[in-house]
Amino acid sequence: MAKDIKRIAVFSSGGDAPGMNAAIRAVVRTGTYHDLHIFGIYRGYDGMIKGNIKRLETSNVGNIIHRGGTILKTARSMEFMSKEGRQAAYESLIANDIDACIAIGGNGTFTGAHVFSKEYDLPFIGIPGTIDNDLYGTDYTIGFDTAINTAVDAVDKIRDTADSHNRLFFVEVMGRNSGFIALNTGIGSGASNVMIPETDTSIEDLIKVLKKGAKRRQKLFSLVIVAEGNKNGGATEIAQKVKEKFDFYDTKVTIIGHLQRGGSPTCMDRVLASRLGHSAVEGLLSGEKNKMVGLVNNQIKFTSFKDAISKEKSLQNDLITMAEILAL
Ligand code: F6P
Repeated sequence: MAKDIKRIAVFSSGGDAPGMNAAIRAVVRTGTYHDLHIFGIYRGYDGMIKGNIKRLETSNVGNIIHRGGTILKTARSMEFMSKEGRQAAYESLIANDIDACIAIGGNGTFTGAHVFSKEYDLPFIGIPGTIDNDLYGTDYTIGFDTAINTAVDAVDKIRDTADSHNRLFFVEVMGRNSGFIALNTGIGSGASNVMIPETDTSIEDLIKVLKKGAKRRQKLFSLVIVAEGNKNGGATEIAQKVKEKFDFYDTKVTIIGHLQRGGSPTCMDRVLASRLGHSAVEGLLSGEKNKMVGLVNNQIKFTSFKDAISKEKSLQNDLITMAEILAL
């Protein structure tokens, strides 16, 4: 155990994700097990700058494993992007005798931690918490499983009304610039098509697939899942373009939006968050720093912040092909 780490601060930053509370709980309880003092920073980097830091004990993280959101609150901090902001953050960590930090968040959070780690000698470990699943260095991010289950549940409900009215529904899901949520929601809900930034499907190709499906399956209703980052536009735009060329269908649009960010985390997310939270503390104690802890092939793996934020995590091509075959 590295003797100098006695006081660890944990915080969540960027968009909240279901399972963040389970990660906070795991950090606090693993730290307590090792006789460390754990502190919570409230409202991400903004709270770090303002010194909004409070001691967290085992009892403070009771009854939270099943709750969505984050008990530490979160924010996207503009101030931390400036040198002065980071200097203020460092001073407030030092004023609270913090030896190391654990950041739960996504790309923006780790970009901040990476810059900070080049300027100041205070170890950081990142825990991937984002519904987008877009971080290199982990097969899954905390919140992704819950988000796709929420999206599939919503699409199942839309399917009932789409079928009853013979309508063509375009359902938009989140994911920022990546198609992980859309592809998995599409496969899991049996959608006719998935439109994601990675494949860049044209309107003409989409119409071909819809026509073919309508002919083969002798049914008129269809569900198309559109990733918000889709290059040809989101669900509203795609629906409009399809309508202009193909007015055969009665088209409707549903944007699931922030529903995907809330709710009780699935068991998969709770277990993932617990493993990553536990390993973040263990990693710091064994000398890991300025890395993100992830799960790769079911094994804990530490990846440098630099790689986690700059290397691309690609969608599996076989899943894309399979989704197309199954939707025929
Ligand atoms: O990164 C998580 C995410 O939910 C993205 O999928 C989405 O693009 C974005 O955050 C929305 O951010 P906000 O809640 O700030 O509108």
